[in-house]
Amino acid sequence: MKFSFLLILFGLQSFQSILADGLSPVNLRCEYKTNPVTDVLAPRLSWELTSAEKNQVQHAYQILVASSPEQLTAENADLWNSGQVNGRATAQVEYAGTELHSRQICYWKVRSWDKNGIAGPWSTVATWEMGLLSKKDWKGDWIGLDLDNLGKGTTYHFPPAPYLRNEINVRRGFKKARLYVTALGLYEFSINGKKVGDAFLTPGWTDYDKRVYYQVFDVTTQIKAGQNALGVQLSYGWYAGYLGYSLLVGNPVVRAFYGKVPVLKAQIVLEYENEPSEIYPTSDAWRVNYGALTESDLLNGETYDARKEWTGWNQTDFNDKNWKKAEVYPDKPERQMQVYPGPPVKITQTMAVKSFSQRANGSYIFDMGQNFAGVVRIKVKGNAGDSIRLRFGEKLHPDGRLMTENLRKARSTDTYILKGLPDGEIWEPKFTFHGFQYVEVSGLKTKPDNNTILGLVIGSDTPKVGSFETDNKMVNQLYSNIDWTQRANYIDIPTDCPQRDERIGWTGDAQVYAKSATFNRDVASFFTKWVVDLNDSQLEDGAYPVYAPSPKLRKSDTFSPGWMEAGIICPYQIYRAYGDTRMIRKGWQNMVLFMDFLEKRSKGTYVFKEGTFKDIDPKGGYGDWLSFGKKTPPDLLASFYFVYCSDLMAEMAKATANIPDEKRFTQMSQKIRKALLAHYSDAKGRFICDTTGYGNGQGYVDGALGFTGHTQTAYANAIYMNVIPGGDKIKTGNFLEQLIKQNGDKLGTGFLGAKPLLPALSASGHSDLAYKLFLSKEFPSWGFEVENGSTTIWERWDSFTKEDGFKYNAAMNSFSHYAFGAVCEWMFGNAAGIQATKPGFAEFNIRPEIAPDGMGENGLSQLKASFHTINGDIVSAWKKEGSKLSMQVTVPVNTTAMIYIPGTAQDNIQVDDKKLGASADIKVIGQEPGYVKIQVGSGSYGIVSEK
Ligand code: BGC
Repeated sequence: MKFSFLLILFGLQSFQSILADGLSPVNLRCEYKTNPVTDVLAPRLSWELTSAEKNQVQHAYQILVASSPEQLTAENADLWNSGQVNGRATAQVEYAGTELHSRQICYWKVRSWDKNGIAGPWSTVATWEMGLLSKKDWKGDWIGLDLDNLGKGTTYHFPPAPYLRNEINVRRGFKKARLYVTALGLYEFSINGKKVGDAFLTPGWTDYDKRVYYQVFDVTTQIKAGQNALGVQLSYGWYAGYLGYSLLVGNPVVRAFYGKVPVLKAQIVLEYENEPSEIYPTSDAWRVNYGALTESDLLNGETYDARKEWTGWNQTDFNDKNWKKAEVYPDKPERQMQVYPGPPVKITQTMAVKSFSQRANGSYIFDMGQNFAGVVRIKVKGNAGDSIRLRFGEKLHPDGRLMTENLRKARSTDTYILKGLPDGEIWEPKFTFHGFQYVEVSGLKTKPDNNTILGLVIGSDTPKVGSFETDNKMVNQLYSNIDWTQRANYIDIPTDCPQRDERIGWTGDAQVYAKSATFNRDVASFFTKWVVDLNDSQLEDGAYPVYAPSPKLRKSDTFSPGWMEAGIICPYQIYRAYGDTRMIRKGWQNMVLFMDFLEKRSKGTYVFKEGTFKDIDPKGGYGDWLSFGKKTPPDLLASFYFVYCSDLMAEMAKATANIPDEKRFTQMSQKIRKALLAHYSDAKGRFICDTTGYGNGQGYVDGALGFTGHTQTAYANAIYMNVIPGGDKIKTGNFLEQLIKQNGDKLGTGFLGAKPLLPALSASGHSDLAYKLFLSKEFPSWGFEVENGSTTIWERWDSFTKEDGFKYNAAMNSFSHYAFGAVCEWMFGNAAGIQATKPGFAEFNIRPEIAPDGMGENGLSQLKASFHTINGDIVSAWKKEGSKLSMQVTVPVNTTAMIYIPGTAQDNIQVDDKKLGASADIKVIGQEPGYVKIQVGSGSYGIVSEK
């Protein structure tokens, strides 16, 4: 007895030491960020777990939060000791300690107990800091300088950018210094001549009448005891500059949608030990002027006349006697001020010149080798007054000229006028960006070299989480194109394109691409920000708009089926990807209002009959934008989206324990399905429509082509959105297959049909056909763009062709438009087979679809996708070798995966060199056509399946 007890004890001890230290928490984050500043009162904490052992889960966790790192012990944690909390939660854990106050720093750590109940080590210490929790904490005034009447020109009105400065004298001995800063417009703040932080385009775009975000910077080392200079440059940005296509469409307002004068609000707070803090706010004591930045516009570019520089203006000892006193502007009491919740916009990469050449007119064209969004830094030498002009384009004309027609009214030109320094001058714009691969530089007096310009890629700093590699070059290029296009368009908000006079948050583009985005980059906080913009811009009748934020760029811009549903779909995708239910709770009222709007629109019939949306412009909305052939009736698509949104609402209500709404939307879905199928489908299950409802089609997008329910887009969406009760996907999938075959094995789908097309084929037993479309290089296809030299996803499959060049210029021809990049969802979800079955990938499937044989070099015989989830890395790789298929799968700690191993005979499968069934940790669940199903816990698995 004694002996066995000892053995158990000994056994346990050695077991523990084998496990190293059990579960180790890493990557501690708060509100999706590392050591952030937040003003969320109950911020959400998350961590990931590592373990040397397979099949590990967290049995319990404990969080400590304290006012100092020294107090981080169970006894002394003064803010929160969660105690031992049972369960697997490692994300979305809400702080539940004592109430937090403005500017407070919270230190925290966490430990986890593993499945055997063994406590792992404490994590390293992480922090978060609270922002200013009440508007009353703001002591700074809104200050600026009205320069509007200095704008000249007829088409464009560009006033110079204001400069603001002040000096503060600081007592020594401060322990902590923070800068709280925002602007209506854009700002760049410097202390003693040095820019604070590395963010761009701050404070971001919002509905400025409702809210403005601010940034918080730790400036403890930038402020010194004694005299300090504060210098700020302001620009017009989204607040006061040109926006979207308003100029193009002849809108009465083309700029200054929110206000004419950009203004700044800031304060520096110094904290001393045992002494009251000091606050240095913006006030009329600041001095203002204008100078070298003579034009500054987000869409149109900047002009900088270095001869007009105020040397030393943002340093101490500058004589600002001739500068004016800052003008103070009133606040809007209803405007909220909050900490910027998204990832900051930054320079995320620099790009060296690939090649350059001179044109006959003396200008040079630089090729950056990649289409991206950003600016360039120039290094030039010349005489005072020499003017260097930079124009940007995504493509060149066949004769080598820069192609700028597709920019439409966006001037996208930066100009630098030299001051004539003998050693040369370096400059880059601050408050603009362009979408480009080529830069035309004119006015150079000396021969340039590769270092004359440097590309600065800008974008919201969303961490890369995905990778996708295969042995097919086209597919690899396509994946690169998708990620580059996402980077070029996730700039504070999800835009349609980064180059022409739009760059707005088109909701349709955003909703079709949202899920794809989650596979490439961590977009949780990015959408946390934008979903607020969506809710802020909800229309009075409850519809979500066609773009958000949503100043009226054209009188007729309201809502559209396929676009407005972003208000439901985006929060849903964030919930599925990250397990985020707070976004659902926060936006619930808005979402319900939208569903009420849809319900009302259906006039109690629960289906949108032909012509229901004829009152909007274009009639019926944008529909299956850029599709081919007869149009899918927009009202049929609207009805699909109606049932889809209602289903998502029921699921989200359930996820937030909202039983009455879960019931309401479950019942609503039933009503819609019934009404939709009764109205729009025939006895054979084909989609039909009463074309008389569309008259001669006038006023509808491509209405002259006629309408039919029997389209690829209709069946693809019906399958994707589970429209047919009982899930009769096979029959519906057969219609889809037939239509594709009749079309010569080619897709005909537009923005709303392209995303569900391949997933719907896969879901209905036509994986081979999905692959055929995916790997095609013929028009229209993803591969066709790659064949034609794309480095990004284009707005149209044939935006440029080697044969015909540009067919659509000056109209709509963006070379950086992510909507068709939504195929990414199928690449990760089907080709690699990574599908979440529980929110946040706590449980997921690996169900790869293997590419068909016999496609030669156009085929695909191996693939590796990896994806860092909120729980850790998922990897799904497969490789065909003759009759053998090998797979590599990685499952993060604290998650479980159902692996679908292609094959039919269990006996022919080995996992980690062992026959199936030999390991107790690997549960054989059973078979389904073409697959053997096993369930595994965390760890990496090598699987071989023999045909
Ligand atoms: C944009 C699209 C957008 C559309 C509305 C276009 O000009 O670039 O991506 O969704 O208008 O159909």
